[in-house]
Amino acid sequence: MATPTSIFCSLLLLLFLSCVTSSDQGNAYLISSRIVSRATAEKQSHFRFYFHDIVRGPNPTAITVAEAPGTNASATLFGLVVMIDDLLTTGPENNSRSVGRAQGFYASAEIEKMGLLMAMNFVFTDGKYNGSIIAILGHNELLSPVREMSIVGGRGMFRFAHGYVQARTHWMDQNTHNAIVEYNIFVNHY
Ligand SMILES: *[C@@H]1O[C@H](CO)[C@@H](O)[C@H](O)[C@H]1NC(C)=O
Ligand SMILES: *[C@@H]1O[C@H](CO)[C@@H](O)[C@H](O)[C@H]1NC(C)=O
Ligand SMILES: *[C@@H]1O[C@H](CO)[C@@H](O)[C@H](O)[C@H]1NC(C)=O
Repeated sequence: MATPTSIFCSLLLLLFLSCVTSSDQGNAYLISSRIVSRATAEKQSHFRFYFHDIVRGPNPTAITVAEAPGTNASATLFGLVVMIDDLLTTGPENNSRSVGRAQGFYASAEIEKMGLLMAMNFVFTDGKYNGSIIAILGHNELLSPVREMSIVGGRGMFRFAHGYVQARTHWMDQNTHNAIVEYNIFVNHY
């Protein structure tokens, strides 16, 4: 027999259960979620840096960390992996203002043509960008005059960064393969 009290209790139980289930749908680990105004101004910044890739010399900043047995025999050095901590400066001279380092690696990822996989962070050490990072992941067909690569994220001033970079070889020594590369960075951020 359903008495008014038992109906009331059942309703209360339903209410309780629905509260428990709705509060348990992922909310245990979601800290907050809110609509961010579409009017939030996203800006695009353009930076120009020179990237100093020093492979040979007393203080190399690009070192080979891995290669395949067939790498030396490959015309494109397929399989070569080079770790870098390359200086970034405002001008092509290595004593011009230093703004940060390009840290990460590049690897020969193409058998037929010269093509590198680039995976690196531009770690800023100068001025208001000090400590901020732009993360780059891309394909670098070394012999092309302009190579475009993706900006896949960032840190600090570059949170939510997206965009692209264009690399142009400014100078390269045919014997040592040391190179200075101009990077134009087009980064959207808040
Ligand atoms: C490839 O060549 C480099 C430099 O000439 C040498 O140091 C390295 O041992 C060679 N690697 C292989 C796997 O033969
Ligand atoms: C800077 O460049 C000059 C001239 O090209 C060169 O002699 C010198 O070794 C370079 N310094 C470093 C730290 O690479
Ligand atoms: C950049 O930040 C680091 C760590 O906070 C600090 O030690 C360094 O002096 C700063 N450099 C410049 C050029 O502001």
